[in-house]
Amino acid sequence: MSKLWGGRFTKKTDQLVEEYTASILFDKELAEEDVQGSLAHVTMLGKQGILPADDVETIKQGLNRVLEKIKAGEIEFSISDEDIHMNIEKSLIEDIGPVGGKLHTGRSRNDQVATDMHLYLRKRVVEFVDLLHKLQAALIEQAKANLDTIVPGYTHLQRAQPILFAHHLMAYVSMFGRDAERLSDSYKRINTLPLGAGALAGTTFPIDRHFVASQLGFDRVYENSLDAVSDRDFILEFLSQASIIMMHLSRLSEELILWSSTEFRFVELDDAFCTGSSIMPQKKNPDVPELVRGKTGRVYGNLIGLLTVLKSLPLAYNKDMQEDKEGMFDTVKTLQGALQLFAPMIATMKVNKEQMRQAVNQDFSNATDIADFLVNKGLPFRQAHEVIGKTVLYCIQQGKYLLDLTIDEFKQFSDLFDDRIYEVLQPEQVVNARNVYGGTARTQVAEAIARAERELDQTAAWVAEYSEKSR
Ligand code: ARG
Repeated sequence: MSKLWGGRFTKKTDQLVEEYTASILFDKELAEEDVQGSLAHVTMLGKQGILPADDVETIKQGLNRVLEKIKAGEIEFSISDEDIHMNIEKSLIEDIGPVGGKLHTGRSRNDQVATDMHLYLRKRVVEFVDLLHKLQAALIEQAKANLDTIVPGYTHLQRAQPILFAHHLMAYVSMFGRDAERLSDSYKRINTLPLGAGALAGTTFPIDRHFVASQLGFDRVYENSLDAVSDRDFILEFLSQASIIMMHLSRLSEELILWSSTEFRFVELDDAFCTGSSIMPQKKNPDVPELVRGKTGRVYGNLIGLLTVLKSLPLAYNKDMQEDKEGMFDTVKTLQGALQLFAPMIATMKVNKEQMRQAVNQDFSNATDIADFLVNKGLPFRQAHEVIGKTVLYCIQQGKYLLDLTIDEFKQFSDLFDDRIYEVLQPEQVVNARNVYGGTARTQVAEAIARAERELDQTAAWVAEYSEKSR
C-alpha cells in the first residue's frame, strides 16, 4: 500500500527525507493512547450517525486486534508510514480492509497527536505522584528513627546550629510534598481534550466533542480549535515540574555524597546502591546520587529544548512540534529511574548517630544560644553577639569549645554569665529551645511528622482515585 496521503504526489519521497521526518521510532510509545483515542472517536462517529453501526463495530474490533499485535511485537512499524498514527491506520486497513479508512473521518493527526500526548502524560503524572509519595514515606521512616539524633545544621556549609537529623530529612519531605501538589494540580490542565479541533479550524462533520471527552475521562474540551492543536503548555508544565523535582533530588544527592565521605561519615549507603572502583579496592562510590545529580542536566535541557522549539512558532500546527516528544519521553524515563531508586536507597541508608554527635560536640553551633542567654539577662542582642564573638575567638586561640570553659573564663567576657550556661549549651537543650512551629525542637518535629503522615494519606487517596481515572 502506498502512502495514506499519496494522492497529490507524483514522485516518491526521498529516502533521506523519510528518515528525517519520521517520528515512528519514538512515538511508537503512544500506541496504546492512540488506539484509546481512536476507539472513543469512532464510537462518537457511530453515535452521531456519521458512520453506520456495522462499520464502527468492525473498526473497533480491528483497532483492538492491532493493539494486541503491537503489544505482542507482531507489527513491524515502517518509517515510510511516518508516525504511530499512520502506522496504526495502515495496519487497521490491512486487517479489516478499506472500511478502516473511515476511522479518520472528522479528525486530523494534529488533534489526534495532541490527544495522545494528553492521555499519556496524565497517566505519568499520577505515577509520579505515587513515586514521590513512596520517597516521602521512606524519608519519614528515617526521620522517625532519628528523632533523637542531633547533627550540625549548616549555612554556607559551615556549622551553624545543631538540629535534629529528623528535622533535616523532613525538609525534603516538604519539598517533595510541594512537587506532588504541583503535579496533581497540573492534572486538570492536562485533562482537557483537543480532539475535535481537526487540523486547526474544527470539522464539517456533526461531531460531539463532549461525548468523546466523557468517554476518555476528560473534564473539559479545549475552547479554541487553534489553541487545541498548538498548545504544548501542558508538556512544558510537566517538564518544569520534573526539573524542580530533579533539582530537589540533586540537592539531596549532594548531601548524601558529602555525608558518605570520610570527611563527614554521617551516613552509609547500602552496598546495593553503591559501586566499586576497578583499581582502588577500598572504594565504595555513591554512584546513584552522583548520576541523579548529573542527569538533572538533561532534564533541564529537555525543558529548555521544548521552550525553544515553541518560541515564536506561528499558530497552528507546525512540524517543529513533533520535537515535543523525545525530550518528554526522556524526562519521564530519567525521573522514573531516579525516584524508583531513591526511596529504597533512603530506606536502607545507615545513619551514623555517634559520628553526628561527635561533630556537634566539636563545634560552636551552640554560640547563638549563649548570645540568647545574655539577651534574656537584658543585654541588647548586638552587644551579646559581640561578647560571644570574643568568647569564641578566645576558645579558638585556646583550642577549646564553649563547654570546656570554666565559669571564671566566661565571666572574663561578661559578668552576666552564671552556672546555668552549662545547661543552656547542651545540644539537646539547644535543639529543644527552638520550640516554634516548624522549628527543630523534638516535640515540634514529632508533630511535623504526624502532619506529614496525614498528608501522605491524602496523597495516597488521590493516587488511588486518579490511577483509575487516568487509565
Ligand atoms: N508525527 C506528528 C507529530 O508528532 C503528528 C502530527 C502530524 N501532523 C501533520 N500535519 N503532519 O507532530
